[in-house]
Amino acid sequence: MPKKVYVAMAADLIHPGHLNIIKHAQALGDVVIGLLSDKAVSAFHRLPFLTFEQRKLVLESLKGVDTVIEQETLDYTHNLRALKPDYVVHGDDWREGPQKETRTKVIEVLKEWQGELVEVPYTRSISSLTLNEQLRSIGTTPGNRMERFRRLLQAKCPVRIMEAHSGLTAHIIENMSFDTDEAHLEYDGVWLSSLTDSTAKGKPDTEYVDKTSRMATIADILESTTKPIIFDGDSGGLTEHFVFTIRSLERLGVSAVVIEDKVGAKRNSLFDPADNNEAVQDDIPNFCHKISAAKKAQVTKDFMIIARVESLVLNKGMDDAMARAEAYLAAGADGIMIHSRIKDGAEILDFCKLFRKLGHTAPLVVVPTTYNHISDQELADAGANIIIYANHMLRSAYPAMVKTAETILRAGCSKDVEKDLMPVKDLLSLIENA
Ligand code: SPV
Ligand code: MG
Repeated sequence: MPKKVYVAMAADLIHPGHLNIIKHAQALGDVVIGLLSDKAVSAFHRLPFLTFEQRKLVLESLKGVDTVIEQETLDYTHNLRALKPDYVVHGDDWREGPQKETRTKVIEVLKEWQGELVEVPYTRSISSLTLNEQLRSIGTTPGNRMERFRRLLQAKCPVRIMEAHSGLTAHIIENMSFDTDEAHLEYDGVWLSSLTDSTAKGKPDTEYVDKTSRMATIADILESTTKPIIFDGDSGGLTEHFVFTIRSLERLGVSAVVIEDKVGAKRNSLFDPADNNEAVQDDIPNFCHKISAAKKAQVTKDFMIIARVESLVLNKGMDDAMARAEAYLAAGADGIMIHSRIKDGAEILDFCKLFRKLGHTAPLVVVPTTYNHISDQELADAGANIIIYANHMLRSAYPAMVKTAETILRAGCSKDVEKDLMPVKDLLSLIENA
């Protein structure tokens, strides 16, 4: 009777390090690979480039692999107890660092049936991490970028999105990541805000900046990040025009568009209602028609149309907000954005909880600008799964720029501001020249 050998891996980009582990495992017996699900990988790493099914297919055709099963968590316990393997094989790199505790647990569980952990010297010259870095510099394709958003929604909760309005801001978002003891943290995508895109161009957020100009911002962002993009489509404009916008966004590889149920002269939702009297909400049948026409116009399967409910912003109450959300979903919307200006955040939490209580499983987006004391995890616990930080890059840059302009003007030279600035040599090397 051959021995049973268990090897867990993410196997996104198969390299000689993986083959080395499989070879060692094969020498010990029949090899079962526990292939980490997207969810398990994204708890400690960025989402794999290949889908779970693609990774499984590749592994199943590798020499030395007998079976591939899913490992749904980083923790091996469930699969180990189900299989009771004689050996677990792993690279010796996990003795230190974030996987240390997983290793200890594996050793403990294996003891229950005298199983053994076999550690193979780590292949130093190559790792998935360095391959990932290199692949990132090559970029992505429109299709791959677009579908990543749906995969992220399956794999992570909450999905965290940060605003970008330029290639530079997208560059910062692309490269911001770190590991804590519990998790790998990074932004999952980019929000192309109408407010910050317009403001960065020195224009008001009134749908004055036309689609051609907004698409030019997308083009800059596409070059600076591989992350999914969510486009703030304002009201979507005329249905006859919106169907063309959908196709343009799809061609670029944007993952989703959010349109809000407003008509007429547009004002930003964060305006006080007293100043916001020009904002008029669309009627439900009209907005539903816009959604269903757009869904019909869509050519890819992955693109998402998210309907933004403005009832709370316009003081129409919870019942109106929920009735609209349900009507928009019935019209074909792939998700709902619920917005609010109220600082305590209570109405947002109430909406999210009620939405889930009513059994809706569609993605739910929130924008915690005013209720900024509520953490992304608290919002997720209430039922939201996409959190958008809608304007924070621009709001942090503006005061810094004003201060610099003022200090130089007062001093008549720039020496005093130098301490607050990035060194020129860092600026010169910020964007790779490849
Ligand atoms: C934007 O970022 O442009 C938005 C969100 O639409 S808000 O400004 O909060 O209305
Ligand atoms: Mg907007």
